Amino acid sequence: MNNSGNFSQYLTDIINAGSLSLMLSIGHRTKIFDVMTQLPPSTVHEIASKSNLNERYVKEWLGAMVTGRIIEYDSRSNKFSLSKEKAQYLTRENCVYNFAASMQWIPVLSQVEDEIVNCFNNGGGISYSSYNRFHQVMAEESYQTVVVALIDHILPLVSNLVDKLNNGINVLDIGCGKGRAVNVMANHFKSSTFYGYDLSKEAISGATRDAQMMGNSNAFFKVRDILGLNFNEKYDLITAFDAIHDQPDPYSALKSIYNSLDDKGIFLMQDILASTPLKDNIEHPLGPFLYTISCLHCVSVSLSQNGAGLGAMWGKEKAVEMLNDVGFRNIEVKKLPHDFQNYYYIAYKN
Ligand SMILES: C[S@@+](CC[C@H](N)C(=O)[O-])C[C@H]1O[C@@H](n2cnc3c(N)ncnc32)[C@H](O)[C@@H]1O
Repeated sequence: MNNSGNFSQYLTDIINAGSLSLMLSIGHRTKIFDVMTQLPPSTVHEIASKSNLNERYVKEWLGAMVTGRIIEYDSRSNKFSLSKEKAQYLTRENCVYNFAASMQWIPVLSQVEDEIVNCFNNGGGISYSSYNRFHQVMAEESYQTVVVALIDHILPLVSNLVDKLNNGINVLDIGCGKGRAVNVMANHFKSSTFYGYDLSKEAISGATRDAQMMGNSNAFFKVRDILGLNFNEKYDLITAFDAIHDQPDPYSALKSIYNSLDDKGIFLMQDILASTPLKDNIEHPLGPFLYTISCLHCVSVSLSQNGAGLGAMWGKEKAVEMLNDVGFRNIEVKKLPHDFQNYYYIAYKN
């Protein structure tokens, strides 16, 4: 971010961009972008009726989208259109990356502003249950950042892992959320058995429903605290997608994972691409967004359980140190080309 020119203009841009992020989220949730890609240039009335939405609200939303340079407007015909180039970044189908889905984080986090101000004043944290729609938005986000790349790009980062999965191994995904990663892997690797554990009943029931719909008889989901893993259970592979840094006790969580792996077991952990010292994150393309998510969610859910409050920006140096501390040896940190949001840590038990 560069604000070396006119600071008041920079702040004006921020208030406009912040407002647009909310309106983009609404465009995603109401599916107006998806409807508009199917329409020729159309009037407010036509867009509202095809979307099955209230015309007065659609009119005001279009005002924000036109002045925000998202949607094109022809004042002579009074018609609105969404270009194919922009639709690639705003829709559910045929999309390079759906930024409108990611914009949902802003309203999800805004819900807890009063509670977070209270935490600034008095300490403490906020429990998961205060974040309405968290699991839905998390599942949409991780689907497009991680799950779509899982089979072809992420699992092959670990040498010989795809062969092992094809031959049949036991896999556990901790903090699995709505289980999309587990279900995609279970569907692809029929000889392996997959378990997904999460604290959230809502997330686990969604995961179980999807497993049934996909016919995944090799995927099993349970509401379970990963701190209570029973060391008699042994897994060949344990995965954690974005699920360690907001733990109340990340050291014990990692130790639990270490103890639950078979002697030749592998831990694959996806976490936010960042450095531990702030000074090394200054040029991070998503720095303000990631520190905001961390402050308003990751730190606070951990502190609500009297936890460590590591936060999403705990960074590579701290992560490697903790993996070493619990006993992992031979730790590799990898990234995928064009993915500036994630690191993939591959840690071997022996
Ligand atoms: C940031 S979300 C990531 C969810 C999922 N892995 C994904 O990438 O979409 C972290 C998840 O960890 C779960 N979680 C947090 N602490 C946990 C614990 N001690 N045991 C099991 N699950 C936990 C939360 O309920 C949440 O679903």
